[in-house]
Amino acid sequence: SYRASLLWFAPFDGVAAQALYEQDGLLVVGPDAQGRQVVQAIGAWATLAPVYAHVPVTHFPGRIIAPGFVDLHVHFPQTNVIGSPASGLLPWLENYTFPEEKRFESPEYSAQAASFFIAELLRNGVTTALTFATSHAQSVDALFAEAQTQKMRMITGLCLMDRHAPADLLNRASPDGKFDAAEHSVLESEALINKWHGIDRLGYAITPRFAPTSTDAQMQGAGDLAARYPDVWIQSHVAENKDEIAWARQLFPKSRSYLATYADFGLMRERAVYAHCIHFDDDDRALMRDTGAAAAVSPTSNLFLGSGFFDYAGADRVGFQYGLASDVGGGTSFSPFHTMLGAYYVGREGQTKQGLSLSPQALWWQHTAGAARALGLGGQAGAAAVGNLLPGCEADFVVLNPQATPLLARKTAIASNLDELLFAMIVLGDDRLIEKTVISQAI
Ligand code: GUN
Ligand code: FE
Repeated sequence: SYRASLLWFAPFDGVAAQALYEQDGLLVVGPDAQGRQVVQAIGAWATLAPVYAHVPVTHFPGRIIAPGFVDLHVHFPQTNVIGSPASGLLPWLENYTFPEEKRFESPEYSAQAASFFIAELLRNGVTTALTFATSHAQSVDALFAEAQTQKMRMITGLCLMDRHAPADLLNRASPDGKFDAAEHSVLESEALINKWHGIDRLGYAITPRFAPTSTDAQMQGAGDLAARYPDVWIQSHVAENKDEIAWARQLFPKSRSYLATYADFGLMRERAVYAHCIHFDDDDRALMRDTGAAAAVSPTSNLFLGSGFFDYAGADRVGFQYGLASDVGGGTSFSPFHTMLGAYYVGREGQTKQGLSLSPQALWWQHTAGAARALGLGGQAGAAAVGNLLPGCEADFVVLNPQATPLLARKTAIASNLDELLFAMIVLGDDRLIEKTVISQAI
């Protein structure tokens, strides 16, 4: 067990995130009935210490223990693409992203990239991620293998692209010629599901990159696969950029909207996470709500690529789920603090009410318990819970050092309430604030 200041969240009431804080707290971790390491108890030291007098205690004086962060959308093959200058999404893909992703044909290149990527997530306090790989099965194997070694909760899958990308990134027909690229990509995805999904803390995501790079046949194959594996995730991109939207509308004219294209092929349901969701109308928002799909909000990416501003007020008015995501390499940082600050800036856009755009408690929740809920890992019956430290949650957490920099030390010392303390860390924090990341030894 661990003695420190503690930050966690009350069970979500469907309206507002509520952070809980204990200045001198005790976090008790131990095995559950299946032998997984989970939180046993959390609360005030004075109350819990007598009850758990028999368990050894690690003391972190002056430190804050908080849930590990959940990155709802990130690209492991784009670590080297961060900060690439381009005039917008489509030129950025063509000039920087696709050339880099081609290198993941090599298992060795994939393996070193996976180990750097996961180390970087952990260094930044991210303990669960929904991640894009490339269209090479080697890249998926490399990321799962490294995540398994690090005991991390990782969800990824084979990137599906059978048109409108460079030839060496397109999914290929089977070597014996029996299956075309669309069919073969679905078979390869299914083989990867059987190899990795549900092993230790790994999960598979069916991953059409975005509608413009898939044929109707591939979209339909992906949707059929999603119906056959209801506890597998789905991830893609939608409504990020005006040129992208025009292109998608031209390619799938029968669908009501770009988003509806995914629903029309059976790709919207619970455990489906769509990155960006910026340029939506209320019918799109209702479709998100009614299908149980979730949005991965990626403010640093949207600001960097000039894509636009996620409409928080619209999302809340209609009521669909969302959480925060780095979207590295469109995004500019692995740090959840930078992402939360970006979301705060974005929340200012279109703001009609007086006051804060987003409260610090809401921002932090969107990158932890809220993101976990969007993944279906928020403690729902039968599913693992991450992103929080309530009893029963997998014990992934960060140890924050509020004295990590001179300015952080100065600013956190004068915080007179929880909102001020959280805001000081959101605005001033980066990887230096993460002193340690602890992964549940759940396997
Ligand atoms: N849309 C399709 N592919 C991508 C990608 O790699 N990054 C972002 N931001 N948007 C995309
Ligand atoms: Fe992305």
